Amino acid sequence: MASSSRIQDADANDHDANTDTDTDTHTHDDPAADTASSSDPSLQIDSDERDSAYGDSQSSYVFPVLCSSPCLLDPTSTSLLTITSYTMSATSSVFNFRYENGRRYHAYAEGKYPVPNDETEADRLDLQHQAFRLSLDGKLYRAPIPKDVQNVLDVGCGTGIWAIEYADEHPSARVLGTDLSPIQPAQVPPNCEFLIDDCEQDWIFRDQFDYIHTRAMVAAVKDWNRFFEQAYANLKPGGYVECQELAFPIKCMDPGVTAENSALMRWSEYFLEAASKVGLDGTGPRHFTPKLRDAGFVNINVKMHKWPVGQWAKGAKFKLLGRFAYEDLMDWLPSSSLGLFTRVLKWTREEVEVFLAECRTEAKRKDRHYYADVLFWYARKPEDASNLGYGHEPTQAEELLEYDEEETEPETSTTQAQPIPTTTDVTRASVEQLAAVASQGDDKPATEQSKSSATVAKIDEAAIK
Ligand SMILES: C[S@@+](CC[C@H](N)C(=O)[O-])C[C@H]1O[C@@H](n2cnc3c(N)ncnc32)[C@H](O)[C@@H]1O
Repeated sequence: MASSSRIQDADANDHDANTDTDTDTHTHDDPAADTASSSDPSLQIDSDERDSAYGDSQSSYVFPVLCSSPCLLDPTSTSLLTITSYTMSATSSVFNFRYENGRRYHAYAEGKYPVPNDETEADRLDLQHQAFRLSLDGKLYRAPIPKDVQNVLDVGCGTGIWAIEYADEHPSARVLGTDLSPIQPAQVPPNCEFLIDDCEQDWIFRDQFDYIHTRAMVAAVKDWNRFFEQAYANLKPGGYVECQELAFPIKCMDPGVTAENSALMRWSEYFLEAASKVGLDGTGPRHFTPKLRDAGFVNINVKMHKWPVGQWAKGAKFKLLGRFAYEDLMDWLPSSSLGLFTRVLKWTREEVEVFLAECRTEAKRKDRHYYADVLFWYARKPEDASNLGYGHEPTQAEELLEYDEEETEPETSTTQAQPIPTTTDVTRASVEQLAAVASQGDDKPATEQSKSSATVAKIDEAAIK
């Protein structure tokens, strides 16, 4: 029996959990006065959950991704032929990586991005990709682009996993992924290419794009205004830009959990402080509306998802998402902090390691329910590109968080927890393996569970700060 309380100050209406409400016909003058309508399932604490980090039951959520290129999952497969259309502007200097505190960093535009590009980070990115897809019920994007879209750009493509899967699922498209680091695989679909490029420099592409995608660039892009201006200039009229972004600070369901009593909340604050000292705004993705509008975009749309850290949330989908988010955070803590905290905050490596150990302990606490906001933005360049489109109201949607106030924390677990896949296990697992892991335990489909608690909410800008 659960009673629920919302932590967002929102006007809620009943709404189908699986329906996006992406209407954008209203106008308003105040860029900060963004409104939101929620269409996603509420996040609720699972009162039966015995371990907020790992969980004691397996979910029945069947991972919906059906990857049609087995070679992505099995490097020995020949099903993608002997394709080597890998294109890179790189000279050998881009491989002259810099090593620091046991981690490897990019060489091109050295020092620009404070996060490593080594195997640990690549594994984290591939795992995080699964979380993004799971969040979108298997989809790679939200923008209403036609299936037969032609030219696609993925800015800051990382390991290239999004670009490769997009290319694979859209044979008509030509997909270009750009990044500072040459960490993309050599075997890719014939319609996918990579380019080593700094997105903060002028974008010089031969053709305009139908769709520009970027993801998880909160610690990479310093000037989002410039980013959107360049995206606008490089899109065909009617084309879409999409940004899928995790946003700081990290949040907690439990009242009274602050930087005073939580190492994880302190880490979030330190990250924001260090990032801001190098010109990055960790909260930036919460405030794209005026930037997109100023660049000329219309039909601005954002939907906020929530990723529980660990398996404390109700519902099979959230349990799997929570496992991904927990593993992601465990690797993101050192990835994001070792460079920034030593270079900017002038901590020693040992100080960082000791503090991160505290953060990990905090993330494992059964009585704390942390989550991250993940924002999915898209916006359109007007068909008549001379129409700058000022005054279009963005549509915002948000998952609401609710928890069971009657939750009690059992002293001992009587259920044997399944071993959680390590980051590497997950990223190398086949879709079938992921689905199998998700299918043990819960007997109610995620969609069914989430529909029952679906609500629609209107929020203001302050609510997503
Ligand atoms: C957190 S990763 C996200 C990778 C990918 N978008 C994904 O979602 O898997 C950020 C990526 O941005 C790249 N990056 C950082 N600064 C960049 C820049 N100025 N230009 C191009 N890529 C950049 C990094 O090398 C890294 O691969």
